[in-house]
Amino acid sequence: MKILVIGGGGREHAIVKKLKQSPRAKKLYALPGNGGIAADAQLVPIGAKEIGKMVDFAKEEGIDFAVVAPDDPLALGAVDALRAAGIPAFGPDKKAAEIESSKVFAKRLMKQYGIPTAAFEVFDKEEDALRYLETAPIPTVIKADGLALGKGVTLAYTLEEAKAAVHALMGERIFGKSGARILIEEMLEGPEVSVLSFTDGKTVVPMVSAMDHKRAQDGDKGPNTGGMGAIAPNPYYTKEIAELCMKTIFAPTIAAMAAEGRPFTGCLYFGLMLTAQGPRVIEYNCRFGDPETQAVLPLLESDLLDIMEATVKGTLDQTPVVFSDKSACCVVLASEGYPARYETGFTLTLPKARDHVECFVAGAKLENGQLLTAGGRVLGVTAVEDTLPQAIAVAYRAADDAAFTNKYCRRDIGARALAAVTEGGEV
Ligand code: AMP
Ligand code: GLY
Repeated sequence: MKILVIGGGGREHAIVKKLKQSPRAKKLYALPGNGGIAADAQLVPIGAKEIGKMVDFAKEEGIDFAVVAPDDPLALGAVDALRAAGIPAFGPDKKAAEIESSKVFAKRLMKQYGIPTAAFEVFDKEEDALRYLETAPIPTVIKADGLALGKGVTLAYTLEEAKAAVHALMGERIFGKSGARILIEEMLEGPEVSVLSFTDGKTVVPMVSAMDHKRAQDGDKGPNTGGMGAIAPNPYYTKEIAELCMKTIFAPTIAAMAAEGRPFTGCLYFGLMLTAQGPRVIEYNCRFGDPETQAVLPLLESDLLDIMEATVKGTLDQTPVVFSDKSACCVVLASEGYPARYETGFTLTLPKARDHVECFVAGAKLENGQLLTAGGRVLGVTAVEDTLPQAIAVAYRAADDAAFTNKYCRRDIGARALAAVTEGGEV
């Protein structure tokens, strides 16, 4: 089969590498991919949001199956367009993708169907939001309704911070029309867990749980980033919690989307917070998370192509989805200064090949056969070992072998998870 993967980051490299293990995957294409992905797939020089060109290419090339990975093309209807052209595509259609692209839609869905989440209010006028804040419980959380590159959320610990965040979104429109409507939410507390799941709209199969590390610096300090590393499984997420989440969150969400006439197919990402009152949904993403995917997919033992096809055909209940019981740690290597200002264009030397280690290129281009850095996040280095401490140690050993000017990484990926283990969680 000829398979087209849309997107161009570390997540897409992890998807390409796993699909390549399928005996039926004869040829892989990445659109646009990146210089590192070029080692595993033929690059297609079309942007991930250029849906017309994408569909034309897929038809001309005789693509048998497409995987749409990033949120933007999903929100723009890439899956709808590919399917309309007769090409089976993994991912939600435009209506189902709204579960991520509109936080207001997602919160109203949860409220209507009794899915546990933080209490919230919706505002479309700045003065109403500011008036509400005068009597609202502080601390509080301010969120833009629309997509804001993961940066549309402010945790406000004082009334002044809350007001400033509302004004930045609604008055100054720092994220454009994404700030036309905002949410003001109850602030929850507890460890966060990312659970990615496969779903065909009826059956939902959670993958191994993961923990992201969103802040730029050690000790969860500094600004939010796309994610500086991940471990899987997440030790806070015990079997009992998993069963509770299936009953109160996963199955009800899939049923709610179907009942709304928006059956969700593809990968639905549950961003959860384990509060003292039980698990709560912080956010849904309509796609694989990054870097979580770089820790989770290396643990998948079943054929990813079979699973992805089953989500489109509606046969997930008859398809094996088996994960290894090992642990994975993914360390992200970034350009110093990320997520603000950073320099690119430096020679990138990948770590030497090691057993149990995979490298996923996030931001690099090929020039005259040489990889050059081309992004904030440059490389994800994942180790899979019997235990989490081993996976962390091996991932860092390999990550330290990679070389490029201004290389930066957090040194404490997995440390919080290890602390959870000693506090009595499960490994
Ligand atoms: P989001 O973009 O919705 O995932 O939010 C980004 C991050 O903000 C989450 O990963 C949480 O760490 C934090 N966050 C979002 N909503 C809340 C909330 N209601 N209470 C506490 N923290 C939150
Ligand atoms: N790692 C969080 C996300 O992909 O949104």
